[in-house]
Parts: sequence; structure tokens; C-alpha cells
Amino acid sequence: MNMHGAVAFDIYGTLIDTQAVLARLTDLIGDKAPTVSRLWRQKQLEYSFRRGLMGDYCDFSVCTRQALVFVCREQQVAISENAVEQAMQAYAELDAFSDVPAGLEALRQQGRQLYAFSNGSRAAVQHLLHRAGLADFFAAVVSVEDVRSFKPDPKVYQHLVRSCGLPAKEVCLVSSNAFDILGAAHAGLSTAWLRRDPQAVFDPWEVQPDITLADFSALASQLGPAK
Ligand code: 2OP
Repeated sequence: MNMHGAVAFDIYGTLIDTQAVLARLTDLIGDKAPTVSRLWRQKQLEYSFRRGLMGDYCDFSVCTRQALVFVCREQQVAISENAVEQAMQAYAELDAFSDVPAGLEALRQQGRQLYAFSNGSRAAVQHLLHRAGLADFFAAVVSVEDVRSFKPDPKVYQHLVRSCGLPAKEVCLVSSNAFDILGAAHAGLSTAWLRRDPQAVFDPWEVQPDITLADFSALASQLGPAK
């Protein structure tokens, strides 16, 4: 297994629990919240894929907001502008998964360079990391906003590799999102799929993750010795 000079972490769904918005959403729209929350994440990503392919970049929070409005209309759930704002505020303050601090500490003890890497703007990601008490673990936050596209555009992974100052293969992307793993592998990075949902199935593509793990705490041991 390659020794990884740098480890980059996807944010939404990997370090930060996007479903942590569910309680707030339930207060705002009632018992359709679980369906809306799941469809919201899918539509948010679909909007980012469309915009990346179109070359029509916008702040990721615009994809998030427009996706919520779409899903509520499609599901015939009434939601006021004020409720949309409150849902967006909750999304900006999502909590980290409980296994993240200890998992990152173990990697820091190994002397690894850690990066946060996201579709989210640098400001949005820094806010989430500071709120979760995780900001000090990272050498830098790398946002796709710098190259005005979205994952899995190769451009964003090339930007990440440049930011790490290492050959692509010495950068390991850790993500719970299969599309992100496939995008990083296509751009020549090493990959670790964090299978947070035991029901999650990885896409049956010709490329598979270098490492698959069910638990964040296994990362330090599975990555092998740091450079
Ligand atoms: C990210 O944080 C959307 O999970 C994706 O970049």
C-alpha cells in the first residue's frame, strides 16, 4: 500500500453528517422530513454535477438552497421563504460524525498532513470545522471555488494535488461518496471509501477504491506508515 504523504477529506457526508439537519427539518416541515432530507441531498449533488458539466459554477449553497425548494415543490410540501432560510442555517451548522475527532487525532499522531476538500466554499467549510472543533487538524481547506467547478471534474482533484504539493498518488482522498472516490481515482489519486452506511453499494465500475473501511478509526492503521 502506498504511503500517503497527504490525506484529504471530503466534508459533507464524510466528516460532517448531512442527515443531522433532519431534526430541524422535521420541526419546519413535519413528517415528510426524512423523505425530503434524502431527496434534498440527491438533488443538491445532481445540481452540482449539472453545473460542473455546464461550466455554470455557483456557490455550493445555491445548489443546496435550490435543491431544497425543488424537492419541497415536487413532494408538495409547503415551505415558506423563512423556513428555507432556517433550513439553510441548520445546514451551515451541521455536526461532525462522532468518530471524527479521535480518527483525525490518530492520523495527526502519525505526522500526516491533513486537508479538508469540498464542493463547499472555503468560508462554509471553515465555519463547519470551527464549530465542530476540528479546524486545527488541517493544513488547509481546499475548495472547488478556487477553480470554479464541482466534483468529480478532474480539475478540482488536480487543484487538490497542487495544493498538497505532492505527486497525485501520494495524496489519499477519504470520502463516503462513491462519485468522489471515482473522480479522485480517475485523476490519479489514492482513495479510501468510508462506507458509513452498511447498506451502501459501491458503483460497479471498472475502478474500485484502494481501501474500503466501515469505521473512521480504522483509517490510521489501514493507511500504513506515514512518509
Ligand atoms: C463535498 O463535501 C459534496 O460531499 C461533497 O464536497
